Order: sequence, then structure tokens, then C-alpha cells
Amino acid sequence: MLTDTLKTILATAYALSIKAQNFHWNCEGPDFPQYHDFFGNFYEEVYGAIDRTAELIRQLDSYTPGSILRYAELSQIQDQTKIPRAMLMMEELYQDNAKVLMMYKEAFHVAEEADEQGIANFIAERIDAHGKHAWMLRSILKTTRA
Ligand SMILES: [Fe+2]
Repeated sequence: MLTDTLKTILATAYALSIKAQNFHWNCEGPDFPQYHDFFGNFYEEVYGAIDRTAELIRQLDSYTPGSILRYAELSQIQDQTKIPRAMLMMEELYQDNAKVLMMYKEAFHVAEEADEQGIANFIAERIDAHGKHAWMLRSILKTTRA
């Protein structure tokens, strides 16, 4: 059901945004300014999609989950309570972003099957945004030229 899919997306986007914000606050290393800015831009971009996602759930006449407990239950990515080294933060965010990208790709088909073109468009924009995040993270993680 499309509303269930959107609720999972909402919780997972929130979890990803919080994790990136945690990394923004706690990253360390010689390239700190770049890491700090990168994680900052990342969490803000992901956070920017949350309100629209919640309102789409309401648009479909379902109620939007709005508690940390519900988000923890629904989120598809693992929480991070420790403070990894900066490159491990990048690696973790890359893996999580890949999961989120896959989630949106599946959601796009759910929206199309429900004949909700506007929502499918919104999801397509998120696929594009997370594709860009994947490119950036991949580039940061690359240490040798193939
Ligand atoms: Fe900040």
C-alpha cells in the first residue's frame, strides 16, 4: 500500500538525516572542514524532503507517524550510537544511501501502480537526489584511480 511505503520512507529519511547530522557534529580529522560541510549539506538535503513526504501521507488520507519510537520501528537503516572515524562514517552513509535509493526505486513502482503520478514525480526527484549523494560518497571513498 502506498501510504505504508511513504511511512517507511518518512522514518528512514528521518533516521538518515539524524545520522548525517550526528556525523556533521562529531567528525574529526585533518579534512574536518570538508567533512563537516559535506555531512551538513547531506543532512539538510535529506531533511528537506521529510515534510513533503509527511504531507503526502495526509494527502492520501492516512495519518503520519510523528514520534521517535515509531520512526525507530519503521526505519530501514541501522541507528549509529557510536562515533566512527570519518572515513567509516562516509562508508556507512554510502551503504545507507544505497538502501534508501533502492527503497525509493521500489516506491516509484508502488506509486505508479496506485496511479499517483504526482507522488511518483516526487519520488523520482528523491531518486535523483540520492543518486547524486551516492556519486559524492563514492568519490570521497575512492583512494585509487581504476
Ligand atoms: Fe551545523
